[in-house]
Amino acid sequence: MDTIAIIDFGSQYTQLIARRLREMSVYSEIFSPDSPSMDPQRYKGIILSGSPSSIGGKEFSFCKEILQPTIPVLGICYGMQLLNTLFEGTVRPLSKKEYGKQAIELFSSPIFEGLGKEEDVWMSHGDSVEELSPHFDVIAMSKNGLISAVRHKALPYFGVQFHPEVTHTACGETVLANFIRLCQCKRDWTMDLLLHMAEEEIRERVGSHPVVSLVSGGIDSTVSTFFCLRALGAKQVIPIHIDTGLMRTGESEEIVELLQRAGMERIVFLPAKERFLNALQRVSDPEEKRRIIGHLFIDLLDEEIRKLDSKAFICQGTLYTDLIESGKGCGKHAAVIKTHHNVGPAIVEEKRKQGLLIEPNARMFKDEVRKAAKALGVPPHLIGRHPFPGPGLAIRILGEVTFEKLELLRRADDIYLDEIRKAGLYDAIWQAFAVLLPVSAVGVAGDERLVGNVAALRAVSSIDGMTASAYPMPPELLERIACRIINETKGIARVVYDITSKPPGTIEWE
Ligand code: XMP
Repeated sequence: MDTIAIIDFGSQYTQLIARRLREMSVYSEIFSPDSPSMDPQRYKGIILSGSPSSIGGKEFSFCKEILQPTIPVLGICYGMQLLNTLFEGTVRPLSKKEYGKQAIELFSSPIFEGLGKEEDVWMSHGDSVEELSPHFDVIAMSKNGLISAVRHKALPYFGVQFHPEVTHTACGETVLANFIRLCQCKRDWTMDLLLHMAEEEIRERVGSHPVVSLVSGGIDSTVSTFFCLRALGAKQVIPIHIDTGLMRTGESEEIVELLQRAGMERIVFLPAKERFLNALQRVSDPEEKRRIIGHLFIDLLDEEIRKLDSKAFICQGTLYTDLIESGKGCGKHAAVIKTHHNVGPAIVEEKRKQGLLIEPNARMFKDEVRKAAKALGVPPHLIGRHPFPGPGLAIRILGEVTFEKLELLRRADDIYLDEIRKAGLYDAIWQAFAVLLPVSAVGVAGDERLVGNVAALRAVSSIDGMTASAYPMPPELLERIACRIINETKGIARVVYDITSKPPGTIEWE
């Protein structure tokens, strides 16, 4: 199969490059810069990723022999700067980072075929080409006077300072499609192949051992469990649902029913509300909450696993997004943004080291998991469900989590989602939820002074959760929701709507 190699210098976006290629039916493989196993002749093209590092700072032991005169190369961001320095150019730090949407002027080049003379692109770099390599020409400039793209004078090597792989760069798909064309790479890769490979991998790795899978009710853990069920059968898969008390109304019961209907024979239901609430007492730091919840999940899992053979596997629904934001997706080079609860606890890392952890979704983004869910026979209402974080409502109650606050948030969230569904907007929104703020506000109810909490409503549009913008909720709907929440919850005195995009915000408040 025609394949493009991606050399990963630790960029947040490396998997996004792979995923964009996948969308264009092109298979790719990701390598570390020093990968001795890479035979460049097997690849139709090579992409050099971006990086949180600077050319002048941490040096990668980059094996530059992989660059061949006949195999096209596309350097993205750091990758472009690297190409420039490999060919005697220099790079300098900028006094002000070029960040966000920028207009660039394009000159004629095969990599820009089909584009206008000016395009908006997404930039995120603190270094820039200083002296251009004598072997390269400039093919785009930013409005700030910085070099935005280069082309080798004789070889099929290109560099772009912007990120064609992020959706904010509207012309990015054309740039990548042009690169695929220049590589003469066939587009014959499909989602079915991805699923097939994931299943084969599970069968090969797990053999006849049992697999324990925590099912939270979200699409991610459901898909990874269904993957195991399809690959291994009901005798080998042990789905565990832990009732943490941090779920939304009726969710735990619904999950058990779903597992039964799917033909799972070894379902384990663990009621653990009190254990979680006790462990979270007087804890308000979000990372600490995630850590406690993650550890408790794992302790409970551990107790179950100890009842099985020592070679039992753990299956997790970790997505690529979780891995990159925790600094794990790109091996040793990526930076940590936020610890997601399903990455990190020692015992999971221990299982990872022993080769007893399987993460069937680890190469996928949220929307791809939804596609996989359909192919795996997950019921449609679950596939369309908004994402729900592993630590549940605990990270939507800012400050200490108590039973009373959980009940209050559950009621507010129910009302919010009920109104969104009634307005026919549920499917148009990527994720919507209420957050309980540790602030009290004053209002009036009838003739009486009302003192209660503040609830923030969040709704975002997104494609993969990596970037997001606030959903433009109709004002009359917001008004209706606010009115119902205040009247029906008896404890929330004020409702606000969050209009922050990601970046700079994140989707969750904690
Ligand atoms: P953020 O807040 O990081 O959210 O912009 C991106 C997506 O990830 C979900 N999320 C989590 N999921 N464990 C999870 O399983 C977590 O700790 C966690 N934190 C955020 C969030 O709901 C959104 O869909």
